[in-house]
Amino acid sequence: MKLLIINGPNLGRLGRREPSIYGATTMEEALEGLRAAFPTHTIEYYQSNVEGFLIDRLEQAADEGVAGIVFNAGAYTHTSIALHDAIRGIAVPVIEVHLSNVHQRETFRHQSMISAACRGVICGFGMQSYRLAIEALVSAE
Ligand code: DQA
Repeated sequence: MKLLIINGPNLGRLGRREPSIYGATTMEEALEGLRAAFPTHTIEYYQSNVEGFLIDRLEQAADEGVAGIVFNAGAYTHTSIALHDAIRGIAVPVIEVHLSNVHQRETFRHQSMISAACRGVICGFGMQSYRLAIEALVSAE
Protein backbone atom coordinates (compact mmCIF):
# COMPACT_ATOMS: atom_id res chain seq x y z
CA MET A 1 0.00 0.00 0.00
CA LYS A 2 1.20 3.50 -0.78
CA LEU A 3 0.48 5.72 2.23
CA LEU A 4 1.04 9.42 2.76
CA ILE A 5 1.59 11.36 5.97
CA ILE A 6 0.78 15.05 5.68
CA ASN A 7 1.74 17.53 8.38
CA GLY A 8 0.43 21.07 8.42
CA PRO A 9 1.69 24.33 9.89
CA ASN A 10 4.46 24.43 12.52
CA LEU A 11 4.89 20.67 12.41
CA GLY A 12 8.14 21.02 10.46
CA ARG A 13 9.68 21.94 13.81
CA LEU A 14 8.74 18.77 15.68
CA GLY A 15 11.46 17.83 18.13
CA ARG A 16 12.26 21.51 18.74
CA ARG A 17 8.77 23.01 19.01
CA GLU A 18 7.31 23.01 22.55
CA PRO A 19 8.83 19.60 23.42
CA SER A 20 6.85 19.47 26.68
CA ILE A 21 3.69 19.17 24.53
CA TYR A 22 4.90 17.56 21.30
CA GLY A 23 7.95 15.57 22.47
CA ALA A 24 11.61 15.63 21.50
CA THR A 25 11.43 13.29 18.50
CA THR A 26 11.85 14.82 15.05
CA MET A 27 9.56 13.77 12.21
CA GLU A 28 12.57 12.33 10.37
CA GLU A 29 13.29 10.05 13.36
CA ALA A 30 9.62 9.10 13.60
CA LEU A 31 9.48 8.31 9.87
CA GLU A 32 12.47 6.00 10.20
CA GLY A 33 10.62 4.08 12.92
CA LEU A 34 7.36 3.98 10.96
CA ARG A 35 9.04 2.72 7.78
CA ALA A 36 10.78 0.01 9.82
CA ALA A 37 7.47 -0.94 11.49
CA PHE A 38 5.60 -1.20 8.17
CA PRO A 39 8.25 -2.53 5.77
CA THR A 40 5.79 -3.83 3.19
CA HIS A 41 4.15 -0.43 2.75
CA THR A 42 5.48 2.73 1.15
CA ILE A 43 5.19 5.71 3.48
CA GLU A 44 5.62 9.12 1.88
CA TYR A 45 5.79 12.37 3.80
CA TYR A 46 4.81 15.96 3.05
CA GLN A 47 4.81 19.04 5.28
CA SER A 48 3.68 22.56 4.52
CA ASN A 49 2.84 25.67 6.47
CA VAL A 50 0.58 26.82 3.61
CA GLU A 51 -3.10 25.85 3.57
CA GLY A 52 -3.39 25.83 -0.23
CA PHE A 53 -0.34 23.60 -0.63
CA LEU A 54 -1.96 21.08 1.74
CA ILE A 55 -5.05 21.06 -0.48
CA ASP A 56 -2.87 20.61 -3.57
CA ARG A 57 -1.10 17.64 -1.94
CA LEU A 58 -4.41 15.99 -0.95
CA GLU A 59 -5.67 16.30 -4.53
CA GLN A 60 -2.37 15.07 -5.96
CA ALA A 61 -2.47 12.04 -3.62
CA ALA A 62 -5.88 11.07 -5.00
CA ASP A 63 -4.59 11.35 -8.58
CA GLU A 64 -1.46 9.30 -7.70
CA GLY A 65 -3.48 6.41 -6.29
CA VAL A 66 -2.39 6.81 -2.67
CA ALA A 67 -4.34 4.24 -0.61
CA GLY A 68 -4.59 6.18 2.64
CA ILE A 69 -3.58 9.46 4.21
CA VAL A 70 -2.60 10.27 7.80
CA PHE A 71 -3.21 13.98 8.24
CA ASN A 72 -2.12 16.26 11.07
CA ALA A 73 -3.49 19.59 9.92
CA GLY A 74 -2.07 21.43 12.95
CA ALA A 75 -3.94 24.63 13.76
CA TYR A 76 -5.79 24.53 10.40
CA THR A 77 -7.73 21.66 11.96
CA HIS A 78 -9.66 24.20 13.98
CA THR A 79 -10.29 26.73 11.22
CA SER A 80 -10.23 25.31 7.72
CA ILE A 81 -13.44 24.59 5.86
CA ALA A 82 -11.26 24.49 2.73
CA LEU A 83 -9.40 21.45 4.10
CA HIS A 84 -12.72 19.84 5.07
CA ASP A 85 -13.92 20.26 1.48
CA ALA A 86 -10.64 18.97 0.06
CA ILE A 87 -10.84 15.80 2.18
CA ARG A 88 -14.47 15.26 1.17
CA GLY A 89 -13.52 15.81 -2.44
CA ILE A 90 -11.17 12.84 -2.64
CA ALA A 91 -12.06 9.17 -2.35
CA VAL A 92 -8.91 8.33 -0.36
CA PRO A 93 -9.51 7.54 3.35
CA VAL A 94 -7.98 10.22 5.58
CA ILE A 95 -7.24 9.70 9.28
CA GLU A 96 -7.00 12.89 11.33
CA VAL A 97 -4.20 12.74 13.89
CA HIS A 98 -2.84 14.94 16.65
CA LEU A 99 0.12 14.35 18.89
CA SER A 100 -1.53 16.08 21.84
CA ASN A 101 -4.94 15.36 23.28
CA VAL A 102 -6.57 18.50 21.91
CA HIS A 103 -9.59 18.01 24.20
CA GLN A 104 -7.41 18.51 27.28
CA ARG A 105 -6.12 21.82 25.94
CA GLU A 106 -7.53 25.29 25.18
CA THR A 107 -11.20 25.32 24.16
CA PHE A 108 -10.33 26.68 20.70
CA ARG A 109 -8.66 23.31 20.03
CA HIS A 110 -11.77 21.31 20.95
CA GLN A 111 -13.44 21.92 17.61
CA SER A 112 -12.21 20.28 14.43
CA MET A 113 -13.42 21.47 11.05
CA ILE A 114 -12.05 18.35 9.39
CA SER A 115 -13.15 15.43 11.64
CA ALA A 116 -16.51 15.00 9.92
CA ALA A 117 -14.76 14.58 6.57
CA CYS A 118 -12.23 12.06 7.90
CA ARG A 119 -12.48 8.30 8.23
CA GLY A 120 -11.47 8.52 11.92
CA VAL A 121 -9.56 10.55 14.48
CA ILE A 122 -6.61 9.64 16.72
CA CYS A 123 -5.17 12.11 19.20
CA GLY A 124 -3.16 12.25 22.37
CA PHE A 125 -0.57 9.53 21.84
CA GLY A 126 2.39 11.63 20.76
CA MET A 127 4.28 10.18 17.80
CA GLN A 128 2.42 6.91 18.39
CA SER A 129 -0.69 8.66 17.00
CA TYR A 130 0.87 8.29 13.52
CA ARG A 131 1.59 4.59 14.04
CA LEU A 132 -1.94 3.92 15.28
CA ALA A 133 -3.39 5.72 12.25
CA ILE A 134 -1.28 3.66 9.84
CA GLU A 135 -2.34 0.54 11.73
CA ALA A 136 -5.98 1.53 11.12
CA LEU A 137 -5.38 2.13 7.41
CA VAL A 138 -3.50 -1.09 6.73
CA SER A 139 -5.84 -3.26 8.79
CA ALA A 140 -8.77 -1.94 6.73
CA GLU A 141 -7.12 -3.36 3.57
C1 DQA B 1 -1.73 19.52 16.90
C2 DQA B 1 -2.77 20.21 17.78
C3 DQA B 1 -3.17 21.55 17.19
O1 DQA B 1 -4.13 22.18 18.03
C4 DQA B 1 -1.97 22.46 17.08
O2 DQA B 1 -2.33 23.67 16.47
C5 DQA B 1 -0.84 21.81 16.36
C6 DQA B 1 -0.52 20.41 16.66
C7 DQA B 1 -1.20 18.21 17.53
O3 DQA B 1 -0.61 17.42 16.81
O4 DQA B 1 -1.36 17.99 18.74
O5 DQA B 1 -0.12 22.44 15.59
O6 DQA B 1 -2.33 19.19 15.66
